[in-house]
Amino acid sequence: MSETALPFNEKIIPPSWRDRTVDIEEFKRLREESLKNIEEFWAKIAEELPWFKKWDKVLDASNPPFYKWFVGAETNMSYLCLDWQLQQGRKNKVALIWEGEPVNEKGEPTEVRKLTYYDLWRETNRIAYMLKNKLGVRKGEIITFYCPMIPELAAFLLATARIGAAHSVVFSGFSSQALAERIKDAESRIVVTADGMYRRGKILRLKDVVDEAVKQCPTVEKVIVIRRVGLDDINVVKGRDLFFDELMEDVPKNVYVEPERMKSDDMLFILYTSGTTGKPKGIVHDIGGYAVGLYATMKWIFDVRDDDIFFNTADIGWITGHSYNLYGPLLTGLTFIWYEGAPDYPAPDRWWSIIERYGVTIFYTSPTAIRMFMRYGEDWIKKHDLSTLRIAHTVGEPINPEAWRWYFKNLCNEDCAASSTWWMTETGIIMISHTPGLKLIPLKPGTNAMPIPGVDADVVNEKGEPCPPGVKGYLVIRTPWPGMLLTIYKDPERYIKTYWSKFPILLYYSGDFAVKDQDGYIWVLGRADEVLKVAGHRIGTAEIESALVQHPAVAEAAVVGKPDPVKGEVPVAFVVLRQGYNPSPDLVKELKVWVRKSIGPVAEPAEIYFVTKLPKTRSGKIMRRLIKAVLLAQPLGDVSTLEDEASVEEVKRAYEEFKKLLEGQ
Ligand code: WTA
Repeated sequence: MSETALPFNEKIIPPSWRDRTVDIEEFKRLREESLKNIEEFWAKIAEELPWFKKWDKVLDASNPPFYKWFVGAETNMSYLCLDWQLQQGRKNKVALIWEGEPVNEKGEPTEVRKLTYYDLWRETNRIAYMLKNKLGVRKGEIITFYCPMIPELAAFLLATARIGAAHSVVFSGFSSQALAERIKDAESRIVVTADGMYRRGKILRLKDVVDEAVKQCPTVEKVIVIRRVGLDDINVVKGRDLFFDELMEDVPKNVYVEPERMKSDDMLFILYTSGTTGKPKGIVHDIGGYAVGLYATMKWIFDVRDDDIFFNTADIGWITGHSYNLYGPLLTGLTFIWYEGAPDYPAPDRWWSIIERYGVTIFYTSPTAIRMFMRYGEDWIKKHDLSTLRIAHTVGEPINPEAWRWYFKNLCNEDCAASSTWWMTETGIIMISHTPGLKLIPLKPGTNAMPIPGVDADVVNEKGEPCPPGVKGYLVIRTPWPGMLLTIYKDPERYIKTYWSKFPILLYYSGDFAVKDQDGYIWVLGRADEVLKVAGHRIGTAEIESALVQHPAVAEAAVVGKPDPVKGEVPVAFVVLRQGYNPSPDLVKELKVWVRKSIGPVAEPAEIYFVTKLPKTRSGKIMRRLIKAVLLAQPLGDVSTLEDEASVEEVKRAYEEFKKLLEGQ
């Protein structure tokens, strides 16, 4: 997004806010007040949660940047999500509404399950019992999950937390290779999967992917298979593979497993995400700080009420799925919806039919999805009653003002709180957003609004000094916050280097560019590093490059992001072939499939070009910046470190030829 085109001055106040105060200055005062003493501020919120044991210290900042929240406190996430909710009278309230993908001839869902808080509590206890007593799962061990969005998974994750183990959920769209890497890093003994899952009416065979991955993972002793689609021809390895239903057969209906007393800063989960090297980072999250941060942001940002129906379209394989499609809604006792399948199956109104069917009040989705639906047109929406919506936020990538205006009009009927919530896998919780549950400030199309109270985020220059309004800079966070990552799993050095070393002063570096406007609103512009956001999914260019160079035909590869009208950006690869290999359309196809298989469909390059050399610095570093400039037809900027000018010409030539080819079609 170009910062000059942003509607800094367009202030929108939804009609239903008319009886409430909408005041930027008042919000700023409240935020400034919170920053005077963040420990006191967050401790007050933490008081609203029950603890097995209270903290001795709110924040341990004695060894920065390894911050610890609520030190000395004891708690348990499954206790907070379930037992505490039962205590508050939610025993028979529906927690999870689950809708499977399959439909009948009329397009109606054939599988809907509703689990009350009591149902979920019971199932969680039963699974916890099974994991503990049958599989000997111990406190601290990491279980890997490779599953579709099914209720069993929710209970499994809560059960894992209950007995003090940790989870690593791997997105079910990742390939066996990507899965294997993550299992190996986590040294999981147990992998939980399903036989298959539905996607656009087809069955994806998940267990086959796990079989392939586990071949490379000597630590894996057991693979638990949930029968989701009822495939009868899956491979079963005797002694290793166990069917979930069989494991549970003799587990009593009403077992109670005491929630393990966990330290606040014990690990709840790791979630792998992409960075600037080929190796994914295992982001480690704690329990107590994360719970407090989620609890607060659910209230402020989603403005939750007890009768809300919450629909987040994010898959559990991403942080948005963890924070705001499982733990957040449960911590605040909500009814939330999991839809298993594709948004446009059997028709592009599947999500709208869900909103109508259950009377959804809070909707959370991605800009890419919005742009996809823009293409399908308004008629699909008009068929449904979406008047129940009160809150409709987006996440994952910047939302262009046009897409925001479209959904504000067509989904929100111009009367919802509609914010682009900025945060990251690493931050654990939303950091920058409107906070309709706390204080109202006007909406603006595409803005991220303001950092929430208790979060000292800002836009700064190379020296770490605040940028004045209108000047682009780096998005940083000055002080620790509850919910923040503890470290990178097994790699504390990389944690320091990646997030806390960019500036001469100690600041958390997000990796994003941003700009502030005259009112203090922040507008995140996109990544400042070699990380792409493809349809909101985070993928490192280095990961794609390292997959490409493993192909026998490829000597070198450079991957850059290219703007895309729907997906935000897409990967484009420039490839140098090894001797004996020649460029051909077939090889392009082959390399695309190769990347798909090595990482997953999200990483597949949209375009691949063959060149004989890549633009590099004299020290041998690929200058992706120059390749990007060629793609965007922008000035090349500083080329003084370039080793061989002809390489840029080659990139240009390869790209121009392709454009001509397209024009000729
Ligand atoms: C981007 C997703 C603009 C940003 C929760 C960030 C956003 C990265 C927004 C983290 C937003 C996320 N506006 N950009 N509202 N939300 N991003 O770890 O580049 O998958 O650094 O977490 O997504 O991606 P991740």
